[in-house]
Amino acid sequence: MSETAIFEINGERYELPVITGTENEQGIDIKALRAVSGCITLDPGFKNTGSTKSAITFLDGENGILRYRGYPIEQLAEKASFLEVAFLLIYGELPSKEELASFTNSITKHTLVHEDMKQFFEAYPPKAHPMGILASMVCSLSTFYPESQNPNRDKDAVDLTIHRLIAKIPTLAAWSYKNAMRHPFMYPKNTFNYCENFLYMMFGMPTEDYTPDPVVVDALNKLLILHADHEQNCSASTVRIVGSSQANLYASISAGVSALWGPLHGGANQAVIEMLTKIQEDGGDLDKWIAKAKDKNDPFRLMGFGHRVYKNFDPRAKIIKKACDDVLEKLGINDPILEIAKKLEKVALEDEYFVKRGLYPNVDFYSGIIYKALNIPSEMFTVMFALGRLPGWIAQWKEMIENNEPIGRPRQIYTGATERDYVSIDKR
Ligand code: SDX
Repeated sequence: MSETAIFEINGERYELPVITGTENEQGIDIKALRAVSGCITLDPGFKNTGSTKSAITFLDGENGILRYRGYPIEQLAEKASFLEVAFLLIYGELPSKEELASFTNSITKHTLVHEDMKQFFEAYPPKAHPMGILASMVCSLSTFYPESQNPNRDKDAVDLTIHRLIAKIPTLAAWSYKNAMRHPFMYPKNTFNYCENFLYMMFGMPTEDYTPDPVVVDALNKLLILHADHEQNCSASTVRIVGSSQANLYASISAGVSALWGPLHGGANQAVIEMLTKIQEDGGDLDKWIAKAKDKNDPFRLMGFGHRVYKNFDPRAKIIKKACDDVLEKLGINDPILEIAKKLEKVALEDEYFVKRGLYPNVDFYSGIIYKALNIPSEMFTVMFALGRLPGWIAQWKEMIENNEPIGRPRQIYTGATERDYVSIDKR
């Protein structure tokens, strides 16, 4: 495979090194481009631009492959626990029994949130979107742990912040739901595992015993694993660039939460359910809505369809679709929305517009249907995505720091006014 790339501009030829990854992906290293040629590259949305070299997650969009640290997502979703996968993503290897026990114990110990933070919830309006609450609460955590703001990146201090984040975000997420319901907050119960504890804090009540349904716990564990990382997606890239300024990990993760909120990204799972409900209420005329999605003059898009990288099936969507069937059957739920989703998928995948553009169901298309079956309100769907993606964001931030990557500062091509003199207001 080539080790250099040649390019010519303004009558000059330049040779640039080529980087080849472990899966034979090739990238032209343009670090020296501006110095030697005076040129930069331009790539809105970074569709063809690599921001880094990473050993965390491998995606093959053409063949629908997704692996965390080399392990296929299908195996991890079937056999691993979410905290096991979090450890793998963050520290690079599957944990031994002792490592997993120590990691789990440390996280269990940090599930409580400083009592003063409860007052923040009282200031939010009842309809406050939980993603707005989560983004601000995560950043506010840094104010309770000022030592975390020290950019010297002491390993133990970083590990403590990592464990605090993984431990406290489920508590903050569940409390944002309880706050919206005007229900009493449920404190973490350390006898529960990670997923059981989150469901307990979400749906438990102080007046009665609550034991999460094992079917629901298993489905949640699978969903969190499937969302755990996805290489340089919008929110992970946001976490990296905020962290590259030596902002602390809480602030970097808070920025990732904000980026994930957008309906083109993690907000799509809420948008999918709202779309399917609208189609159902409109009488279920799928051809009408497919035509709208294809109409360039209509802003409507088929939410949950399409992907920047996958131009074939999103492997996560396949697993979630099967989990959907399993969970609804085990819980005895017959959700007409699922039937509409399956019909919509079938119609779309037979339509040349979608096939030609490689628009397939993505991770968000079916996940909302499972969350709905687990009685999680649609405003919380993207919070669930953030709970799953947290270890991936942390792993990406940690890799960027450990590789001493420079502060992110892209260039631009200026297209504004050339030099002109100021004109006093009475002469304009
Ligand atoms: C996630 O990056 C990640 O890895 C993200 C993620 C992760 O795990 O982090 O996988 C999670 O964000 C999944 C995506 C969730 N978003 C949605 O479901 C929203 C709906 N999908 C789209 O808006 C869109 O597909 C994107 C944003 C996901 C991808 O957009 P791209 O890669 O920028 O592609 P594009 O907008 O340039 O579209 C290419 C063509 C266009 O048509 P033409 O100009 O060629 O005629 O496809 C069309 C688009 O109009 N198109 C769609 C469509 N998605 C793309 N047309 C109708 N419905 C859609 N959903």
